[in-house]
Amino acid sequence: MTAKVYTIASGKGGAGKTTTTVNLGTCLAGLGKKTLILDADIGMANLGLVLGLEKSEVTLHEVLAGKADVKNAIYDGPNGLKVLPSGISLQGFQNSNPEMLTNVMGKLVENYDYMLIDAPAGISKDGVIPLAVADEVILVVNPEISSLADALKTKVLVEMIDSTVMGVVLNRVGTTATEIGNQKVESLLDSKILQSIPEDPNVRNASAFRTPVVVKYPESPSSIAFKRLAASLAGIEMPDEPDKSQVKEGFVDRLARALFGGI
Ligand SMILES: Nc1ncnc2c1ncn2[C@@H]1O[C@H](COP(=O)(O)OP(=O)(O)OP(=O)(O)O)[C@@H](O)[C@H]1O
Ligand SMILES: [Mg+2]
Repeated sequence: MTAKVYTIASGKGGAGKTTTTVNLGTCLAGLGKKTLILDADIGMANLGLVLGLEKSEVTLHEVLAGKADVKNAIYDGPNGLKVLPSGISLQGFQNSNPEMLTNVMGKLVENYDYMLIDAPAGISKDGVIPLAVADEVILVVNPEISSLADALKTKVLVEMIDSTVMGVVLNRVGTTATEIGNQKVESLLDSKILQSIPEDPNVRNASAFRTPVVVKYPESPSSIAFKRLAASLAGIEMPDEPDKSQVKEGFVDRLARALFGGI
């Protein structure tokens, strides 16, 4: 087996890269796929933080400093997901050599179906490596102009290094009436929207419990969207989203049957 490697990038900070990496990874693992998520945001690491792994002694920092074997830096997440966090100390960041990432990936790629890399924001020199090691890049974008502009820069960078953008995860949808619509996002970025993820307060509530929203609130709107994204990446068909009016009608029908007889 050789893992399919997706790097989750955005350009602008705070778009939802870590949230997407954690929840997509958890869903892929839940589908029975051997999945590893890796925090390549070695300066501002927070993948471990959202999963309660911040006290881990051996992290990607030690691996990239040549002080530890990568297998000792991999921890268990939900659904059998494997997690390779980065450390949170500044010293650890300074000691790390980001160029060793390619080598680390080479050691892991045979062990998984999917590897998801949480990329740093921006287009720094160190940020190029996570883009270069990907088979394909997934852009996380919010429906607002500065997020789109920065995502476009990232896309140009990805193409400059002969990598490809697979598509867009449009995150935090539904906050304002003025937000940019799907078609415009697709035409500006010349990329397909793989999935829209709604604005959902459960995302923050779940991270307070150091648990992905798909585990803590599996029926919440964002969780359903993350599950759909995972299923589509894994090539698994999911039924179309239920039409709420039909659900309501079904309930009324059932109630009528219960009150007035019938089956
Ligand atoms: N769909 C959503 N609904 C509500 N809140 C969200 C959603 N997605 C992400 N958030 C919140 O937005 C914040 C930023 O998300 P996240 O940390 O995933 O972004 P990031 O792109 O990894 O940021 P950074 O560039 O700093 O690494 C977090 O507080 C997260 O809980
Ligand atoms: Mg992040």
